[in-house]
Amino acid sequence: MTLCLLHRLARPIALLVVVTATCLGAAQAATLRLACSGLGREQQLCRSAAEAWGRKNGHTVELVNLPEDAGQRLQMLRRGFAETPQAIDVVQLDVVQLGALREHLLDLKPHTRGAERQHFSSMVANGTLDGKLLALPWFIDAGLLYYRRDLLEKYRQPVPQTWEQLQAVAQHIQTAERQAGNPRLWGYVWQGRNYEGLSCNALEWIASFGGGTLLDERGRVTVNQPKAVRALETAAGWIGRISPREVLDWGEEESRTAFQGGHAVFMRNWPYAWALTQAPGSALRGKVGIAVLPGGGGSGRQAATLGGQQLAVSRHAAEPALAAELVLHLTGAAVQKERALKASYNPTLNELYRDPEVRAANPDLGMLLQAFYSAVARPSTVTGAKYPEVSAEFARAVHEVLSGRAPAGGAMAALETRLRQILGSRDKATADGP
Ligand code: GLC
Repeated sequence: MTLCLLHRLARPIALLVVVTATCLGAAQAATLRLACSGLGREQQLCRSAAEAWGRKNGHTVELVNLPEDAGQRLQMLRRGFAETPQAIDVVQLDVVQLGALREHLLDLKPHTRGAERQHFSSMVANGTLDGKLLALPWFIDAGLLYYRRDLLEKYRQPVPQTWEQLQAVAQHIQTAERQAGNPRLWGYVWQGRNYEGLSCNALEWIASFGGGTLLDERGRVTVNQPKAVRALETAAGWIGRISPREVLDWGEEESRTAFQGGHAVFMRNWPYAWALTQAPGSALRGKVGIAVLPGGGGSGRQAATLGGQQLAVSRHAAEPALAAELVLHLTGAAVQKERALKASYNPTLNELYRDPEVRAANPDLGMLLQAFYSAVARPSTVTGAKYPEVSAEFARAVHEVLSGRAPAGGAMAALETRLRQILGSRDKATADGP
């Protein structure tokens, strides 16, 4: 601005017009389009933080609504980038989607002024491909077990540590409550629709039974093994017993709605569901607890799938530097803290886990941190751009087993063949991933 003023004083009037326009141009109002997911309160929070940044800086941010379903979001983004690449400047990406969209994303490194160093290194690594920082972390997720504290107390039942225990406790309370006039109560609700969320649930079952993570770190298919088969048979046994058949069509919000409506003892969901079940007006306020998901198969471990979201800038953006500023703002401490306090989206910034307000708002933060550190990653790094296809095949095979259309053993054998085809003729993933 000082420079502009000097120019203005030194030059003739004719030039004044041009210079003034250039100066204004430097701070010219821009319109950025930001694509955010619609799961839970994501859209609403995304809009308020982005619009506040726009007002403060004299820019307009237009929201592009992405579907609730992670797989549909990816499809929409792929189509959008192919057909109208300039329609989105900043985009929310699932931690497993970077490989599939990498060619459309800008390297943020020249714009971040080192901000990435404040985030969990695992999340930054997830946003980095071939040395390029293609996304900054926004929030971290891990699968959790939600339970009705009031019902466990009423029936003097423990928080289950194993799937066998969960089944027994769920069955016990479900039967007793139904007899006592609560006919619509189910033991356990989760995400069983044929989509990315089912891949997350099934990975937890399989990993907790000691059955691996679908592929090993070298990309070799490991899913066709007895422990994975046992895990899937266990889950299939819940359908119609402790889980309603409808769970086969449910994603995060359908299971949360059932749980929050008082129709389930246990629920598997992400941390965002915590704030909603505890919101003023929720029938479950004060009646819910969260815990790590149960372990399986005797020697099995307790496993949570690692999830989360990040923000990236399109390399087709007309104003890449400005778009990167918006990303820095949204992933920065003020916005992450607000989202943690209002809606239990868990920060990716180390410092916020020491923040007294964040700690007070979430008494289970220590347990959550533990869950994040020990969470199981989906094989998206080793499969790169092929991850969506790999996951889609996995979810489809698991859905067949849960629906009773295929035995678990046969489905896993067929899945292994299919995954080998996708990943190349050898049993190793091809070099598409990093
Ligand atoms: C959550 C997680 C994400 C996962 C999705 C599955 O949004 O953050 O990583 O892919 O759920 O439905």
